[in-house]
Amino acid sequence: MENRIAETLKILTETDKEACETVRVSENEPISNKKRLFIESYGCQMNFADSEIVASVMREAGFATTSDAENADLVFLNTCAIRDNAEQRVRTRLKQLNVYKKKRPGMLIGVLGCMAERLKAKFLEEEKMVDIVTGPDAYRDLPRLVEEAETGQKGVNVFLSREETYADISPVRLNSNGITALISIMRGCDNMCSFCVVPYTRGRERSRDPESILKEAQDLFDNGYKEVTLLGQNVDSYKYANPNDKNEIVSFAKLLEKVALISPELRVRFSTSHPKDITDEVLYTIKKYDNICKYIHLPAQSGNTRVLEIMNRTYTREWYLERIDSIRRILGEECGISHDMIAGFCTETEEEHQDSLSLLEYVRFDFGYMFSYSERPGTPAAKKFKDDIPADVKQRRLAEIIEVQQRISTERNKKLIGTVQKVLVEGTSKRSVDDFSGRSDQNKVVIFPRENFKKGDYVNVLITETTSATLRGRAVVEEEIAQLA
Ligand code: SAH
Ligand code: SF4
Ligand code: F3S
Repeated sequence: MENRIAETLKILTETDKEACETVRVSENEPISNKKRLFIESYGCQMNFADSEIVASVMREAGFATTSDAENADLVFLNTCAIRDNAEQRVRTRLKQLNVYKKKRPGMLIGVLGCMAERLKAKFLEEEKMVDIVTGPDAYRDLPRLVEEAETGQKGVNVFLSREETYADISPVRLNSNGITALISIMRGCDNMCSFCVVPYTRGRERSRDPESILKEAQDLFDNGYKEVTLLGQNVDSYKYANPNDKNEIVSFAKLLEKVALISPELRVRFSTSHPKDITDEVLYTIKKYDNICKYIHLPAQSGNTRVLEIMNRTYTREWYLERIDSIRRILGEECGISHDMIAGFCTETEEEHQDSLSLLEYVRFDFGYMFSYSERPGTPAAKKFKDDIPADVKQRRLAEIIEVQQRISTERNKKLIGTVQKVLVEGTSKRSVDDFSGRSDQNKVVIFPRENFKKGDYVNVLITETTSATLRGRAVVEEEIAQLA
């Protein structure tokens, strides 16, 4: 059994190589006489977007980013606290950084993000090499904290704000392929799912001024970007009341439409949708605009109503499946759908686990992010329930979930052989310089021979081969598409 679990997890990490990234490192900017800042980001896309805000704040303070941690003057780890293993990775990385710091005693180390917010000043006690601890709403204070740290005074700012959205800060695009960019449209989360640390690390939910979002998207488009992803923990609860006329409210559907109207050449994606909030209005808006991608990430977390209830997800299995049916009804079979699923939540029985598997079989998701439950200190679940599912049972259930999802992903992708997908070229494939890599409307990674295309082109690709994670094919011209039809 253990071998099978290890094998399943290995397949997942290998096939995922093209599809996802878990750590992002800053790139080299021209240095001249500036101080060097290395930023490494963990966790979700919101953290990656925040690091771009941080780089912008620090640029104003005279720092340029570098990809070389060993020779940096300042190292920031933008951390994630979602599961214990996310935190352990940061602890291990800090030990490595301490080796560099010992060689270059002037180096400063700052811990930012969700783990900083969770542990606060305790971080300074537990990890002696750390000079600065800053939570997600306090990044404007970083220059001051760094200045003080340069004089030997360690500093903490973990103040959580009800208003901060960094709306006026122009992010420095780190790791940018120059084609796709992330835009935060809201911060925080009010949902209080019982397993989740995010409401404690990112504070209350607040939506960003739509004008600043539209300006950012327009600027990106004017600078050659072809795709924006609108980010929030629960984008469907985006809501902005005009301060001059409280009756004028911009909903997520309206915002999506406004961004889509910037240009038909600008693709629009969004993440994450919450099953309790995603409305038919949003689905019809997606349908109305060709440039809004037909892809929805709709975390399920469990397929069993009792478990969903103690998770405080505020929907039932039936509600979730109704939302899926609506997506299929309004956007059709070909709309891409992915999920998040947690295996082995407190008190979950074998039958309840089977309900998660049967949900996967019913929906036939294209892709999934699957985790075993990790108790987070201070969350409602940690206070109310015992983390009572043994580790080996959690791992076995997780492996079963992954196995079912992998089979379905492979089957769903196979069905695309012989179809033509419109692919936005993001860059050279990681495996071969002769191939380009991009994404289809449904967010599938597509690899094809580069010929004379360039980054940022939309290319019609005839799919000829697939795995569970990627599609392969070759570019086709209009006449060939007509023949295929
Ligand atoms: N806002 C998103 C999720 C953000 S966290 C939503 O509501 O769906 C990303 C995913 O991490 C979650 O969807 C969940 O599947 C997983 N996760 C969160 N807390 C977890 C925990 N304590 N243990 C295991 N997985 C967890
Ligand atoms: Fe966490 Fe739930 Fe908020 Fe998602 S919606 S961030 S899972 S509390
Ligand atoms: Fe992690 Fe914080 Fe995102 S806990 S998943 S980095 S919101």
